[in-house]
Amino acid sequence: MDVLDVVVIMIAGLWLFLPAMLPNSAAVVFGGGTPVDLGKSINGKRILGDGKTWRGFFGGGLAGVVLGLILMAIAYVFDPDSLFGYMSFRKGICIIVCLSFGSLLGDMLGSFIKRRLNIERGKKAPVLDQYDFLIGAFLLTSLFYPHWVYDTYIEIPGGHIFALIFLLIITLLLHRAMNIIGYKAGLKDVPW
Ligand code: CTP
Ligand code: MG
Repeated sequence: MDVLDVVVIMIAGLWLFLPAMLPNSAAVVFGGGTPVDLGKSINGKRILGDGKTWRGFFGGGLAGVVLGLILMAIAYVFDPDSLFGYMSFRKGICIIVCLSFGSLLGDMLGSFIKRRLNIERGKKAPVLDQYDFLIGAFLLTSLFYPHWVYDTYIEIPGGHIFALIFLLIITLLLHRAMNIIGYKAGLKDVPW
C-alpha cells in the first residue's frame, strides 16, 4: 500500500458516499409543508419538530438516488466490471437507496435526540448536527450490506479505514460550508 493507493481509496470512498451527502442539502430546497411527526409531542416536547418534513424526506431521498444513478452511469463508462465499487447496477441501486434514505433517517434521529434534550429546532447540537446523517447512512447500509461497508470503509490492512477517516473530515468542512451557503442564499435562518 503506497500513498497513491490510499488517495484512490479515499476518493472512491467519498464518491460512493455522495448519495448520502446530498439528501440533507436537497431537503432544505424541497422541504416544507407537513412535518413528519404531524406536529405531535411527547411529554410536551415535539417528537421531531417542524424542521423534518415529508417533502424534505422524499425530495431529499430521491435527489440522493438520482445522483447515485448518475454516478453509476459515469462509472459504467470507465469501470463497467465494478462501477468504481458499487459492484453491479442491482447492488448499486440498493446501496444507494440505503445511503440516501439512511442519511435522512439519521438526520431525523438526530432531531429526535435534540428534542429530548430540550434543544429547539435549528439550535446547535455539536457532533449530532454534523454526523447524524453519516451514522444513519452507515447503519442502514450496514444492515443490508455489511461486507460492502466493511470492505469499503473499515478494513485496516488494505487501508480502507482511511476512506472513513477522510469522510469524517470532509463532512465537518462541508457541513460548515453548506450551512453558510444556505444561510447566505436565504434558505436557512442561521449560519449553522
Ligand atoms: N428539511 C425538511 N425535511 C427534512 C430535513 C430537512 O424539510 N427531512 C428542511 C427544513 O426546512 C429544515 C432544513 O431542511 O429546517 C434544515 O435541516 P436541519 O438543519 O436538519 O433542520 P433544523 O431546522 O435545523 O432542525 P433540527 O434542530 O431538528 O435539526
Ligand atoms: Mg439544523
